[in-house]
Amino acid sequence: MKTKAYDVLIIGSGAAGLTLALDLAQVAHIGLLSKQALSSGSTLHAQGGISAVLDQRDSLQTHSDDTLNAGAGLCDKAVVDFVVSQGAKSIQTLIERGVAFSQENGEYHLTREGGHSHRRVIHAADATGRAVSESLQEQVLNQANIDVLAHYLVIDLITSQKLGLAGNRCVGVYALDKKNDEVIPIKAKFVILATGGAGKVYLYTSNPDTATGDGIAMAWRAGCRVANMEFIQFHPTCLYHSEAKSFLISEAVRGEGGRLLLPNGQPFMHRFDPRGELAPRDIVARAIDHEMKRLGAEHVLLDISHKPAEFVKSHFPMIYESCLQWGMDMTREPLPVVPAAHYTCGGVMTNTTGQTDINGLFAIGEVAFTGLHGANRMASNSLLECLVFGKAAADTIKTQLEQTPMPTDLPLWDTSRVTDSDEEVVVSHNWDELRRFMWDYVGIVRTTKRLQRAKHRVDLLLREIDEYYSHFRVSNDLIELRNLVVVADLIIRSALIRKESRGLHFTLDYPQTAPLAHNTVLIP
Ligand code: FAD
Ligand code: SIN
Repeated sequence: MKTKAYDVLIIGSGAAGLTLALDLAQVAHIGLLSKQALSSGSTLHAQGGISAVLDQRDSLQTHSDDTLNAGAGLCDKAVVDFVVSQGAKSIQTLIERGVAFSQENGEYHLTREGGHSHRRVIHAADATGRAVSESLQEQVLNQANIDVLAHYLVIDLITSQKLGLAGNRCVGVYALDKKNDEVIPIKAKFVILATGGAGKVYLYTSNPDTATGDGIAMAWRAGCRVANMEFIQFHPTCLYHSEAKSFLISEAVRGEGGRLLLPNGQPFMHRFDPRGELAPRDIVARAIDHEMKRLGAEHVLLDISHKPAEFVKSHFPMIYESCLQWGMDMTREPLPVVPAAHYTCGGVMTNTTGQTDINGLFAIGEVAFTGLHGANRMASNSLLECLVFGKAAADTIKTQLEQTPMPTDLPLWDTSRVTDSDEEVVVSHNWDELRRFMWDYVGIVRTTKRLQRAKHRVDLLLREIDEYYSHFRVSNDLIELRNLVVVADLIIRSALIRKESRGLHFTLDYPQTAPLAHNTVLIP
């Protein structure tokens, strides 16, 4: 049995984890873990870009105001101002780290997305995430101080409290080394959750398979508070195609003039919001959902075919090529689109340096609840959040590294009371059931009755999966399912607590927005 020890253990190799790793590489011995390949995670798939004030006609004040407006009264203004103020600097760091953003006429091109009153989204064509991910990975792989551990799935956090020791500090993790099929303890002075979101809790999602909410579930089990889990963002425009697996059609397509149409070709967004196609995402997704239900339609249409073909191909080369593969030419015809689960606005509560409720444990990126997004994240603010909090957490850890001792050796993983599973089908069946009832009962439009139905089912699943987990040897799917069901429970409980409609949480039983805004904080 191998054990490992690091100054800093980073769980997750998306924009947040890679940023933190690079910011600390000069001063700390780092373990960078990913449950799949190093490139796995939502970051690789990000399309539209990163918001930052880079144009002289724009201002920090306007970026803050737009974010606060999209967040429907629930953003923490101090956090918004802090993140927005770090935008230009964060982009400069990415450029220095090799990210080639798109340029036009010798200047960086800025696109528009919903909720933004200015052009402020810097991008690398329509594959910004790939450009960021590849550049940062290349840098990470050149750092002798960073040990990359791909295909290691963290199962749980280890705290001094769990070990019966004094204080409440995170001292390491248990991780499944998937290639050797063995669970090892890894100790560290600091542990960072950079595990991304939880879109896979829904049947239809733009998220990759890694987005199973592991970090949120692990932090919750370890004793961290979790906030605002009811605010799940549904992206309005994912491709409706049996083989496309909810492939995203970037909001930048609407930012560059794309129109939303009913199946009969009529525009409809102006009936829902004066900003039309560029209203914040919650409004657009709800409008589409409303029209689809009203007409019994399977999808609506997104049309940019009125723009010159060359314009479409040069701005959206990846989307254009992908759609062509599925037999659709977006320069000539509208694309069929539907909303799908896209972003987890809530998460593990942190302060402005990413510190959670447990000493030595940080949460950065989509896994965290920092107060930036409020009740609805504005487009392209999340990659910015990853960069800003990755750096903020690194700066704080630097000041604590030297005086923090390495934890004592951790107990080995105990397999004495488990056997090989005799019914793997239980895992796949429960996985399907969970994602379907979350889609049906905890989706874009909610009611108390639907939420109660979901709660009843999730309670049964929690018991069943817990029992299964305590009897059988762990596997990738079982660990992810165990986390998904915890996250589903947190979403449903939070949604039941919120007796109003606000931002991404819309319930027919309480359609009004309450005069006083409050976060939904769950305490383990
Ligand atoms: P991720 O990039 O999701 O990385 C998570 C990492 O954690 C992965 O390496 C994963 O393997 C690892 N991991 C998870 N659980 C475990 C575990 N138990 N053990 C070990 N490793 C684990 N935002 C924008 O701002 N602009 C955009 O244009 C944009 N476009 C998007 C397009 C798509 C299709 C999607 C899905 C999202 C988009 N977003 C966009 C959102 C944004 O991409 C994400 O919020 C952001 O990339 C999250 O980064 P992260 O570092 O927090 O996590
Ligand atoms: C998109 O390109 O539409 C995604 C942007 C985001 O989620 O921020």
